[in-house]
Amino acid sequence: MGSEILRDLTFDIPKRSFQFLTGPSGAGKTTLLRLLFMSLKPTRGLIRSFGRDINQIPRDELPLLRRRIGIVFQDFRLLDHLTTYENVALPLRVRGKEEASYRQDVLELLKWVGLGERINVLPAILSGGEKQRAAIARALIDRPELLLADEPTGNVDPPMARRLLSLFLELNRLGTAVVIATHDLALMDQVNARRMILSEGHLDIYE
Ligand SMILES: Nc1ncnc2c1ncn2[C@@H]1O[C@H](COP(=O)(O)OP(=O)(O)OP(=O)(O)O)[C@@H](O)[C@H]1O
Ligand SMILES: [Mg+2]
Repeated sequence: MGSEILRDLTFDIPKRSFQFLTGPSGAGKTTLLRLLFMSLKPTRGLIRSFGRDINQIPRDELPLLRRRIGIVFQDFRLLDHLTTYENVALPLRVRGKEEASYRQDVLELLKWVGLGERINVLPAILSGGEKQRAAIARALIDRPELLLADEPTGNVDPPMARRLLSLFLELNRLGTAVVIATHDLALMDQVNARRMILSEGHLDIYE
């Protein structure tokens, strides 16, 4: 069914690690993140996620495993009928937490990403960069074990990109493994981190 996008990749994402995933447009960064998120299955090869072969995981267990992963999609995927606050609080609500236990955390995080004035509006009236920041806040709020972020600074100005990077670093310091897909060399140059570079279906890793 068409040509293979990724092949012969062998790598791991260690617990509490921090890495950039880079490579030209169309190289397969989003595809690789979808494989890690278990929303796409490989046509061949083995992927282990949290110690388990993803081909052996029953379909109804996938949502539980995915809750351990925070993901920022390249196209944001906010829910249109929920406000910024409700979108960001959603992972906590899904977990069955009481609003009183997280409301302050959500508000603080929204302020940190510069959305303090945008808390009660619907995504339709947010700018691209504002949507992106809401998507990042939603991915972080539940302190996932793994964060997958697809071009998370693609729609913001350089000072905001630095601010968001410091947020990812802080999350990592608290124990989350972080994978950031990006083309942004200036962003990568700010941190001495592992770089995974995709090109023509192959992966090179620079520690
Ligand atoms: N659902 C799909 N079915 C078939 N081919 C796909 C699908 N999604 C992406 N592709 C192809 O896979 C290749 C890799 O796409 P992918 O979106 O992973 O690249 P990328 O590195 O994220 O690019 P960008 O930097 O532009 O976001 C591209 O050639 C694309 O056309
Ligand atoms: Mg992509």
